[in-house]
Amino acid sequence: MRKNIVAGNWKMNNDLSQTGSLIEALKGKTKTSNAEVMVAPTFTNLYQASEALKGEGIEVIAQNVHFAENGAYTGEISASMLKSVGVETVILGHSERREYFNETDEMLAKKVDAVLANNLRVIFCFGEVLEDRKSGNQEVIVEGQIKNALFHLKASAFKNIVLAYEPVWAIGTGETASPEQAQDMHAFIRKTLTDKYGSEVADAVSILYGGSVKPGNAQEIFSKPDVDGGLIGGASLNADDFFAIVNAF
Ligand code: G3P
Repeated sequence: MRKNIVAGNWKMNNDLSQTGSLIEALKGKTKTSNAEVMVAPTFTNLYQASEALKGEGIEVIAQNVHFAENGAYTGEISASMLKSVGVETVILGHSERREYFNETDEMLAKKVDAVLANNLRVIFCFGEVLEDRKSGNQEVIVEGQIKNALFHLKASAFKNIVLAYEPVWAIGTGETASPEQAQDMHAFIRKTLTDKYGSEVADAVSILYGGSVKPGNAQEIFSKPDVDGGLIGGASLNADDFFAIVNAF
């Protein structure tokens, strides 16, 4: 049985003090759903957050990683360094990194391998831009992103892979994909996995939706059969809103 997951991607927000305040607010919340809960602070706040949330039922995850284990990569962080501060899951392939930092499918395949080699879990992001949606090319785009970065993996690797479909045109725009659009794409993604690895593997992979998920739309989106939760941006920076989404199952 695949897991329901709600992960908050804090992006480049919250200094040490603000992270502490948000963590205290999160610790005061009650979870009434069966969702696994995760939050992704920035690198500078990972250790503090990981220590503060130990035993609280909220996993602290990272927003990115470099594919090398160490070396002359100024400004970068390795998977083993993340592991050393208590991180067990890493977000990869977010559209903002693909756009602003030119992350390619090939680079992401190497990052996926580095995370898995350290026995960590990947939340792999992908999604089409507005022009591709308007031209009806969304499935071709998403299929390519998934195949190019993940289909070199053995079936067993998928026990440590979570997928996150994030239509770029819905991220930070308030223009949420409809529950039907989300379900259609998630069903296509699951069929793509089934065709390659079989239904046992595909049915066990959690597929999250991300893109303007809010307390007012989460329940309808999460009610769809192939939507297993959400990757939340803006709404994750408010403890009340974030837990309204966590409890929307
Ligand atoms: O990674 C999640 C993020 O891209 C979604 O952002 O603000 O539309 O919830 P937002």
